Amino acid sequence: MTETLNQQAMAILQKNDRGGFTIPTARLYPFQWNWDSAFIALGIATYDRERAWQELEMLTDAQADDGMIPHIIFRKDDADYFPGPSIWQTEAAGIPASGISQPPVLASIVRHLVETAPASELARAGSLFESTLRWQRWYFHYRRPEGCPAICTVHPWETGRDNCPDWDIGMRAMAVDPDLPSYKRKDIEHADPSQRPSHEEYDKYITMVKFGRDHNWDQSVIVNNGPFLMADPGLHFIWLRACRDLREIAVWLGKDDVLPEIDSWIEAGIAGAEYFWNDAIQAYCVRDVRSGTFSDGFSNASALCFYADVGSQAQRDHTLEHIRRIAKQTKFGQPSWDPEAARFESQRYWCGPLWCQMNYMISKGLAEQGIPDLAEKMRLDLRHVIELSGFYECFDPISGAGCIGQDFSWTAALWLAWAGYDAPAIQAA
Ligand code: DGY
Repeated sequence: MTETLNQQAMAILQKNDRGGFTIPTARLYPFQWNWDSAFIALGIATYDRERAWQELEMLTDAQADDGMIPHIIFRKDDADYFPGPSIWQTEAAGIPASGISQPPVLASIVRHLVETAPASELARAGSLFESTLRWQRWYFHYRRPEGCPAICTVHPWETGRDNCPDWDIGMRAMAVDPDLPSYKRKDIEHADPSQRPSHEEYDKYITMVKFGRDHNWDQSVIVNNGPFLMADPGLHFIWLRACRDLREIAVWLGKDDVLPEIDSWIEAGIAGAEYFWNDAIQAYCVRDVRSGTFSDGFSNASALCFYADVGSQAQRDHTLEHIRRIAKQTKFGQPSWDPEAARFESQRYWCGPLWCQMNYMISKGLAEQGIPDLAEKMRLDLRHVIELSGFYECFDPISGAGCIGQDFSWTAALWLAWAGYDAPAIQAA
C-alpha cells in the first residue's frame, strides 16, 4: 500500500510536470500556480532535489518589477481555463500572468529545503534570496494600506481561500460591474458545480479583475479605491512566518545588512496580529478593512497563529479550544470552515473541505509550539483520507470523500514530504 501510494504520488507529479514547473492538475488548473508550486517543491525534493529547486526558480522568474510574484503564471494560453491571460491582460518579467499574488510560503519552503539538504545547496537559496526578500517587501508595502496594521487582500483568490464564507462581508458590500462582459466559466465543466463557487461569486471575482485591468494593475489604486479590501489572518500569518524564515536564511547567508528591515517586518507583523482578534468568538478572524467588521467563523487560517508564533497564552488557549471542539465534529480535521458556523458545506471548496497544505502548516505550528498530539493527529488524518480516497484537491472532512480536482499535485507532494509512511513527521522544536 505504502509503496503503491508513493509511486502514485510520484507519477502524479511527473504527469503534471510541464517542463521545469508543475501544474496543480490538468484541465482545471493548467498553469503554474504560485503557492502550489512551493508545496510541490517539498514533495519533489524527496526524490529529485535539482528539479525541486528548479520549480522555485521558475516561480521567481515571473517576478514583477515591483516585487510581486503573481498567483498564476500563464506561460502558454490554454482554452480550458477561465479567466486566462486575455482577461488579466498583464505580465510579470515579460511573462503573461495574473495581477494579484498568493500566500507567500516561498521563504518557508526554501528554509525547509536548505535544512534538509547537503550544505552545498545553500547556494541555491542564495540565488533565490533577493527575489524572496523583494516579494516579502511587496506584501509589506502594497498590502498594508494606510491605517491598517495587518496584511490585506484585494481579491479572495489572492488568499488562496477563494470562496470561504470569511469573504462574505466584503463580497456583499460590492456591486457587480454593470459593464461586465458576458463570460463562460470553465471550472464547472471540469468539476462538480456543487463543489465550486457560485455564479454570483464569480461575477464579483471577475468584477475585481476588471477593476485591476481598467486601472492598469496599479496596486495603490486597487487597494485604495478597488471594490474589495479585507485583512486576512491567513496571508498575515503565512507572511509573518515567512519573514522569520527569511531572517534565518539571511543569517546563514551572512546577509546582515537586511536584518534590520526584516526585523522591522517581524515586529510589525506581531503587533498587527492583534487587528484580527475577534472577542466575540475568541479567535483570529478576517476583517473588512473599510467597515472594521469581523467575520465570525473559525477557519483553518485562524488556526495558523501557532505557525506564525503569535498570541498571548489566553489567545492560544482559545484557539486550541476551537481546534479541539471542531475535531470532535469531523473525522478528518481541520476543515476550512467551522462546521457549526453558517454556510458550512463539507464538499464546497473553501466552505468546509480539508486542505492538505493548510493542515501541513497548522500541524507544523502546533508541533513547534508544544502541542504534538494535535499536530500528529492532523498528519495522520491526511494520511488516512488519502488512503481512503486518493490524491484529491481537498476532502470532505466528515466522510473523507475526495472533492474537485483529481491527481492533485500538492496532495501528492505533501504525501511524499509529510503525511505518507516514509515521510518525515514534523519534529517539535
Ligand atoms: C480558480 O481558478 O479557482 C483558482 O482558485 C483561482 O486562483
